[in-house]
Amino acid sequence: MKEVNIKSTFFVFDDLTETPLQIQNLMKKAMTARENAYAPYSKFHVGTAILLDNNEIITGNNQENASYPSGLCAERAAIYYAGSNYPKTKILVMAIVAGSIKNTTSKPIPPCGACRQAIAEYEVKQESPIEIYFKGETGKVVKSNSLANLLPLLFDKAVL
Ligand code: THU
Repeated sequence: MKEVNIKSTFFVFDDLTETPLQIQNLMKKAMTARENAYAPYSKFHVGTAILLDNNEIITGNNQENASYPSGLCAERAAIYYAGSNYPKTKILVMAIVAGSIKNTTSKPIPPCGACRQAIAEYEVKQESPIEIYFKGETGKVVKSNSLANLLPLLFDKAVL
């Protein structure tokens, strides 16, 4: 038996203004998208904006359903739109803003496990990393250079 350690590296910005202008712009698009989240059950609103390498920006937000599992997270709403409409265009960056509308969170909120798996699929497909930035409503912004940092021991097509 041997111990295996996996290292993940993240970058933490004190606030949005510390990030590059392009990211500030993308995050603002995510914040605007979050305003249209449909989350009457959880009251947890998430917005995301994806920058493609043709410079287009795709946005998404979470959409809930009275049948709870039928709802969809913001990240998957956006990335599946990108995958279905721009199948040959690489995804460069994904910006995510999340938080409950019941209080203001300054804690950066990473994508859920199911969304990590979905984003990873496109990273594997396009053979290049997707940068992930995530934040709460205010405060610090966390950056990962690749989705792989957020999902070690990835299940992907290589095992099928
Ligand atoms: N949600 C997202 O949109 N993205 C995530 O990564 C985590 C959770 C949504 C799903 C649901 O509408 C609400 O947030 C509470 O889980």
